[in-house]
Amino acid sequence: MDCTAGVALLGCGTVGAHVAQRLLHDRDAIERRSGIRYQVRGVAVRDLLKPRPEGLDALSFTRDARALIDDPAIDVVIECIGGTTDAMELVERALERGRAVITANKDLLATHGPRLRALAAVRGASLRYEAAACGAIPVIRLLDDALAGDEISALAGVVNGTCTAILSAMESGADYDEALAGAQARGYAEADPSSDVDGDDAAHKLALLMQLAFGLAVISPRIRRSGIAQIAKREIARARMLGYRIRLVAAAVRQRDGARAEVAPVLVRAEHPFAQGAGPENVVRVVARDAGALVLSGNGAGGAPTASAILGDLVTTLRTLRGRHDSPQRTQALNAALEIAPFFAELARHPELPRFPVWDDTLLNAPVSLASQAYS
Ligand SMILES: NC(=O)c1ccc[n+]([C@@H]2O[C@H](COP(=O)([O-])OP(=O)(O)OC[C@H]3O[C@@H](n4cnc5c(N)ncnc54)[C@H](OP(=O)(O)O)[C@@H]3O)[C@@H](O)[C@H]2O)c1
Repeated sequence: MDCTAGVALLGCGTVGAHVAQRLLHDRDAIERRSGIRYQVRGVAVRDLLKPRPEGLDALSFTRDARALIDDPAIDVVIECIGGTTDAMELVERALERGRAVITANKDLLATHGPRLRALAAVRGASLRYEAAACGAIPVIRLLDDALAGDEISALAGVVNGTCTAILSAMESGADYDEALAGAQARGYAEADPSSDVDGDDAAHKLALLMQLAFGLAVISPRIRRSGIAQIAKREIARARMLGYRIRLVAAAVRQRDGARAEVAPVLVRAEHPFAQGAGPENVVRVVARDAGALVLSGNGAGGAPTASAILGDLVTTLRTLRGRHDSPQRTQALNAALEIAPFFAELARHPELPRFPVWDDTLLNAPVSLASQAYS
């Protein structure tokens, strides 16, 4: 590699535009922290005529993402396109060519993560994705680096801000359609909110976190999920009177023969950390054998928090390029997930709201000794 790292940015939408601004305007700080200079060699977009935020004129835009990736001067590819079609092809292409890849794309990792990690390992390329789950909250690093010497037995959290925004608006008296329209007006929900409100987005994040926490090749279609669209305002009001909030909770516990995992609306005590957010805040509780329980919370979405996580990955990647070594944990092969059983079926129910399981942190403390299992 030349002493200047070549960077390609794919996508310049909500997230990519923030990344582009940071790459241009925070250059001194990023280079100082990483110990290496970089050049942004191009930004791939779909529509060259679309107006972009001010201050990006110094960047060279192109519609040809493939040629940008193939530029031999490219060392790092930052993928901010989204989806699993074009993004998959381009990320595979970059890894095939040994480029370090940074992505914010949870759909891609939850669907093709095991394959991409294996490809990265074969090519000796790094693949980082801190932004793909829970925005600015460094949960990927927690699982992949800080707890790499521990044994993670369970994790759970509130990882979809759209659902939290809708449910908390319904607590204030809105009905579902009003709450959804309000979340869309504030930018918390997409025009087509189905991935969020049906629990798919949370299942994608849970699959990705399970891959890291448990070392299992879990893909999100195997995780049972139910969403929030069928919850009535009166159920939310009743829950409040009983001292609960209803929150979309994603939870997983590792077991000897696989894991239990599920995404569903559950009753959470009003004072519990899972009940505190009213919008894009995410909360994740991780239980490890030696570290015990750790709780992280913060901004789970939005252009700036997501860009923050991507830029953190960039600094780490640039340091790696400088030192020419890679973190083996990030590219290790995953073990097959033998069985992914539902999580919430055995939870207690409140007699006045029997439709919803009642959350209890001790459910994550089920002792699982993994020392002797075949895939540890
Ligand atoms: N938004 C958030 O808060 C958030 C939070 C965490 C993670 N993420 C993830 O970040 C990723 C990007 O999300 P976003 O909200 O920034 O999406 P977005 O606003 O829709 O931006 C997508 C960008 O990709 C470009 N693009 C699409 N297809 C392309 C192709 N084939 N070649 C080159 N460029 C292409 C688009 O170009 P044009 O601009 O020309 O159309 C656009 O600039 C997704 O994986 C998402 O899940 C987003």
